[in-house]
Amino acid sequence: MKKPLLIVAAFFAVLFSCTHDAVNPSNPTSSSTGNTSGSTSGTGTGTGSGNGTNAICFQTDVLPLFQTYCASAGCHDAATAREELVLTSYANIMRGISANKPNSSKYYQVIADGSMPPRNSPKLSSAQIATIANWIKAGATNNTCVVATCDTTKTTYTNGVSQIFATYCNGCHGLAPGSGNVVLSDYASAKAAGVGMKINFLNAINYTSATPAMNMPQSGKLSDCQITQITKWINSGCPQ
Ligand code: HEC
Repeated sequence: MKKPLLIVAAFFAVLFSCTHDAVNPSNPTSSSTGNTSGSTSGTGTGTGSGNGTNAICFQTDVLPLFQTYCASAGCHDAATAREELVLTSYANIMRGISANKPNSSKYYQVIADGSMPPRNSPKLSSAQIATIANWIKAGATNNTCVVATCDTTKTTYTNGVSQIFATYCNGCHGLAPGSGNVVLSDYASAKAAGVGMKINFLNAINYTSATPAMNMPQSGKLSDCQITQITKWINSGCPQ
């Protein structure tokens, strides 16, 4: 009696939590080489980006933003694929990006004009939006940076930890009540989670949770350095 009702309710909850105007990918069935219209360089071979000290790195600076803010459960993740968009890989993200041209990049524009993430979902900060714009201007390559910008001595909330949360967590834990009732975007809430669910929190970021779905972020483990920063922060009582 009750179960079908619950399933129907859950279905609508998911539907309405993430329904929004269609954002049609320019060519959803194109091959994984991405959107080549108007772009002179192929993927991964853009000139002038990737090696400079201030280069924006797709793998560490841009991909986590899409995974955190766009690929939440029920939205553009692999399981749901709203509007047939799965924003979890370079190839898929490139379907809505024109290298060198942020203003002709659909996936940039909907973020920049505030329509994505939709309604009450946590939005990207202006600095994060600028990061995506600059990555596109530099050729939108699938680059990885050799030198990771991570420092194991930065272990307070304001200096180190909140920056990790902003990039990797706040798309789901940025607004109350937050996924799993965990909010990490302000100090008091983050401390409450770090102190109140210390063991679960450490298990989540170390990928040692008894339930794999509780490993955070679900899109992939943080770097060892980032895990060390958060672990030190939690073990020292979550200093501000
Ligand atoms: C794409 C969405 C998403 C992202 C990104 C994400 N989380 Fe979560 N998180 C969830 C969901 C959903 C739950 C609740 C899971 C459940 O209850 O089954 C959760 C639960 C948690 C919990 C509670 C675990 C427990 O055992 O109760 C912690 C702690 C947590 N997340 C920390 C983080 C941290 C730290 C990050 C970033 C490094 C992060 N999450 C990134 C969606 C996300």
